Amino acid sequence: MRLRKKKNLEEKVSLVANNLIGRDCYAFYKLEDKTPYMLDLKKVFDNDNKIELEIGCGKGDFLYKKASDNKDINYIGVELLINVLVDALELVPKDYTNLKYLNVNAQHLQWFLPENSIDKIYLNFSCPYPKKQYANHRLTNSKFLELYKKICKPNFTIEQKTDNDAFFEYSLEEYEKCGFEIVKISRDLHNEKVGFEEEKAYQTQYEQKFMSLGKNINYVKVKLK
Ligand SMILES: C[S@@+](CC[C@H](N)C(=O)[O-])C[C@H]1O[C@@H](n2cnc3c(N)ncnc32)[C@H](O)[C@@H]1O
Repeated sequence: MRLRKKKNLEEKVSLVANNLIGRDCYAFYKLEDKTPYMLDLKKVFDNDNKIELEIGCGKGDFLYKKASDNKDINYIGVELLINVLVDALELVPKDYTNLKYLNVNAQHLQWFLPENSIDKIYLNFSCPYPKKQYANHRLTNSKFLELYKKICKPNFTIEQKTDNDAFFEYSLEEYEKCGFEIVKISRDLHNEKVGFEEEKAYQTQYEQKFMSLGKNINYVKVKLK
């Protein structure tokens, strides 16, 4: 689906840019030494609290709910498309200090986030890229899993949700290949009777869309063995 460019996009972004902590725009690609892009996360959040990342956060409703309910956790949303991210930026109230956004391709995260800095990664309804030749764009491809290991603390976890059954099975194989073990799993999250209350409570926009169509939602939480 082609997204229509929003009118006055950059002007809209500039009005909410106080919560935008990095962009991999033209200057980033041109610069050979990318070290100036590295963030000092203690300065960004003004504390040492845990940091959780949603990669491919879309319009940001999931993180907004998380950040509202957990003021002692810092959240960063990562989104490739500024056209989409501007909606997430506009959602954040002025007095929120624990929710920031990065407008970058996930493959550049090591230039923005220090090693050993992240506690948890959420991959909610990541693009499945069904064609085999694009498998390395999938956010659970081993290339990305190795990158996550670098920016995350050793005991980090990944929580993934997807409507796409084939992508889910692919992801489980990639986790196994990269030394992760399953902590919790469901192939039909919203029909689980017990044990998944929190995972069911925080729903994303895509999750609601697929639930309304009667689609089962796959969920897995993994950690390194
Ligand atoms: C299907 S949407 C899901 C949005 C949201 N997480 C939800 O569940 O409602 C996937 C999002 O991931 C973003 N995305 C895809 N590849 C990405 C990448 N390599 N880096 C950052 N964002 C990416 C897309 O632009 C899109 O907004």
